[in-house]
This record gives sequence, C-alpha cells and structure tokens, in this order.
Amino acid sequence: MSQLPAIDARQQDSITDQQAQFFLDNGLLLIRNLINSAELAALQQHTQVLVDRAVQGIPEKAPAGDWTDEHDVHYRRHSVTGKITPYRIEYVIDKTAANKALLGHPFILRSIEKIQGRNFLPTWDSMVFKRQGMGALIPWHRDGRPYDQSRLTIDPTAAAVNVDFYLDGSDMTNCLWAIPGSNRWPHDQALARIAQLNSSKEFSTDGAVPLPVQPGDVLFHSTLTLHGSPAAQSQLRRVVYYEFRPIEVEATIGPHTPQYIPLKQKVLLSCLRHRSKADYAADEKPFEYKPDASWAFPADDGQALGGYRFHHADYWRVA
Ligand code: NI
Repeated sequence: MSQLPAIDARQQDSITDQQAQFFLDNGLLLIRNLINSAELAALQQHTQVLVDRAVQGIPEKAPAGDWTDEHDVHYRRHSVTGKITPYRIEYVIDKTAANKALLGHPFILRSIEKIQGRNFLPTWDSMVFKRQGMGALIPWHRDGRPYDQSRLTIDPTAAAVNVDFYLDGSDMTNCLWAIPGSNRWPHDQALARIAQLNSSKEFSTDGAVPLPVQPGDVLFHSTLTLHGSPAAQSQLRRVVYYEFRPIEVEATIGPHTPQYIPLKQKVLLSCLRHRSKADYAADEKPFEYKPDASWAFPADDGQALGGYRFHHADYWRVA
C-alpha cells in the first residue's frame, strides 16, 4: 500500500475522486478533523450517558458467552481481567440527538455519494467502545461476508462502507489495526488469514498497520477489510459506526428486505433536519439527498417517524 493520503476535513468539503479510488483499492481512508469541537462535545456528552448506563447494567451473574441486553448493549468477558464488560451499543441514532445530527454530516454524505452514487442508504448505526481500564479485545474479522459478485453491479468495496467516527483518541495501546488491500481478497483467503491471526493468545499485528487517531477524526473502512484491536487497559475509546449501502444492492440482494429502504431514507431526511437545527452545523453547506426518481419515495412529509430504531432482524432476508 502506498501511504494513506493525508485528508484534512478543514481543507476540503468531501473526499476527492483520487481519494475515493484509494479507498476502493485499499479498503481504508482516514479523514482528520472532521467533527468540530462543539459537535464533538455534544456527541461525547450524549454517548457518555449510554456508556454509564451500560456499565450500570452489568449483571451480578453473567450468562455464559457474549450477550445483548434490553437496551441494545453487548457484553463480553474482558480477556485481561476476566470481568464482564460492555463494549457495543446498537441503534445509537434512536438514542441521542447528537447521533441524529451526525448522520446528516455533509462531508460524510458527499463522500459516500462519491463512492456509492446518489442512491445510497444508511443501513447501520452503532457505537463500539473500550471502557477505561477494561477495553474488550475485538478479534480480527470482516464485518460480513462479501456479496455474490455475479449479482453485484458495483465494486464490492463500495457495496458496504463503514464510517467510524472517533469520539476519543486512540494510541498504540488501544488503536484499530487493519490490513490494507485485504478488502480485495477472496473470502476463503480472508477467513484463513483471520483464523491464523486469531490463533495466538496475544492480539497479532502481523502484516497490519496501526491507525491511531485524534478525537474528531474519521475512518472509512470497507466491511471486507480485515480489522481488529487489542484488549486494553487505557482510557475510554468510543467509536460511532454508521454503515451505508447502495439502494440498488439493498433492493436486489439485501441483506435487508426492500421494505427497509423507504424507512431508512426517512431516517436520513429526518436526521438532515436535525442537523439543520444544530448550532454547530450553522456555518456548513447542508447535504441534499437526491436519489434517482426510481428511488424517490413518497414525499418527505416532515412527520415524526415515531422512532429511528428499525430492528435488523425484522427486515432481514432469509438467505
Ligand atoms: Ni468491524
């Protein structure tokens, strides 16, 4: 891999065509200084409430293995201390105002449009965190299986893009590691390498690059890029993950059913409205969501959605 391009969100208002191509080739892109200080403070404040509640929710008696509670919090055992620790919360857009406004971030949406085209859809929103002193290990993985390429009309790397918003910095004790270019590996090769990397007791960084970041930086990663991070005992590290997929792919292959599409389009429009009212976004040029006419859904009537939590399982396709 050539070096990751230096991208500073204060100097440009979207990624460039060349940077989009780098993403397709390597499955990674790092954007510095994307979230301004006022927005970052709001996100930190709102998500701290979620982290605190997750910690309070640690049960006296833990189920065996990993599990999820009624507040969408995932728990697992910390590999260093052996104690139960929360590490992930689903549907964060439903849970905080700052996360709603964040989905409308114009730099992000213009960049996703460049990678996926104008017909894109927000498909996932979660927060993964390493608790202070008790950061869970995230083993090496791909975020999902690749699509059947014979049915795909878009580059597989563009077909599912994760945007990772760092609310806290990371350093060599707790940062993400990834293998650039692994987004292009056949799935068998990826699984073999994942098994090899995860076979050692310590977190293996063989052939990988570290990606330490500052608060407010953002990483784009393909769901096919191999990535993981070590167990840590350092400071809190929160990362909000928003995933995007092209509507055409979602409509024809999934993973969600077609009914999911207009609902999530409405979530996006509602979040754009949230952003338009946020003080910290007052100086920016808002993103205009304009999918092709075939994907324009019944007009955005400005009505409240009645919630932003569309449970994946309720819209999942049977393979
Ligand atoms: Ni992942």
